Amino acid sequence: MKPIVCTGAMDAETLYLIGALADAEPVGLGPWKCVRGMLDGFPTVIVRTNQGMANAAAATALAIERFAPCAVLNQGTSGGHAPDLHTGDLVIGETVVNLGAWRTPDRPRGAGIDPVCGEPLGLEIANPDPGDGPKVTAFRADAALMRAAAAIPWDRGRVVRGVIGSGDWWNNELDRIAWLHGRFGTMAEEMEAAASAQICQAYGMPFLTVRILSNTAVHGEPFDERTGEQCQKFARALLRNYRMQ
Ligand code: 5AD
Repeated sequence: MKPIVCTGAMDAETLYLIGALADAEPVGLGPWKCVRGMLDGFPTVIVRTNQGMANAAAATALAIERFAPCAVLNQGTSGGHAPDLHTGDLVIGETVVNLGAWRTPDRPRGAGIDPVCGEPLGLEIANPDPGDGPKVTAFRADAALMRAAAAIPWDRGRVVRGVIGSGDWWNNELDRIAWLHGRFGTMAEEMEAAASAQICQAYGMPFLTVRILSNTAVHGEPFDERTGEQCQKFARALLRNYRMQ
C-alpha cells in the first residue's frame, strides 16, 4: 500500500502526528526532518518542511520522489483573513493561491507604485516537454481528500472550506488583509501550501491543505502555538477517512 505524505512546517505542527506513528522510523530526506511509520494502521510519512515557500516546494518534491505516495496532505497554522473566523477555526483549502505571484501594469518612471494594482501571475507547472509549461494561478484541491475532510465531525471550532493564500509574507496591515480577502476571497494566509500544491500538480499528485487559525490580526488575536496540535488531530481524522473511502 502506498504511503500518504503529511507535511507541516514546524514542530508544533508535526510532533503530535510523529508521536502517533507506530513503528516510527526516521528517514534521511536531505536537511528535512522526516519520520515514517503506521498511522492508525496505514503507512504514513510525516515531513517537517520548515517554514516558507522554497522549503515547502523542495521538501515536497523530495518526499514524492522518495516515497511515491498516493497523496500529499499539508496542514498547519495560519493567520485569519475572513472576519467571521477566529483562532481555532479551520479552513479546508478548496483552492490555494500564491499571494506573491503578481504582474504589475506598465507605469512610467516617476509615476509611483501601487501595492494593490495588477493581476495574479500564472505559475509554470514543470514538465520535461519542449516549450513553456501550463501556467496556473489557483490550485484546486483533490476531490477525494476534500470529501474526507468534509466528513469529519468537529466541535472544537468552525470548519469552513475556501481559499487559502500562501507566500513568504506575514501580513499585519488590516487594509492589506481586507484587500486580499476581497480580491482573492482568502479565508487565511500561511507560507507553504501554494508551493506544495504547485509541485504536486507537476507530479499529478493529489493534494490538500487544511489550516487552523493560530492568529488573526483582523480580531487582534495573537499567535497561539497550541492550535498546531488541534490541526494535526483534524489531519489524523482526515487521513483515516481518506483511507476508508
Ligand atoms: N501569516 C503567515 N504565516 C502564518 N503562519 C501562521 N500564521 C501566519 C500568518 N499570520 C504559519 C506559516 C509559517 C509559520 C510562520 O506559521 O505557514 O509556517
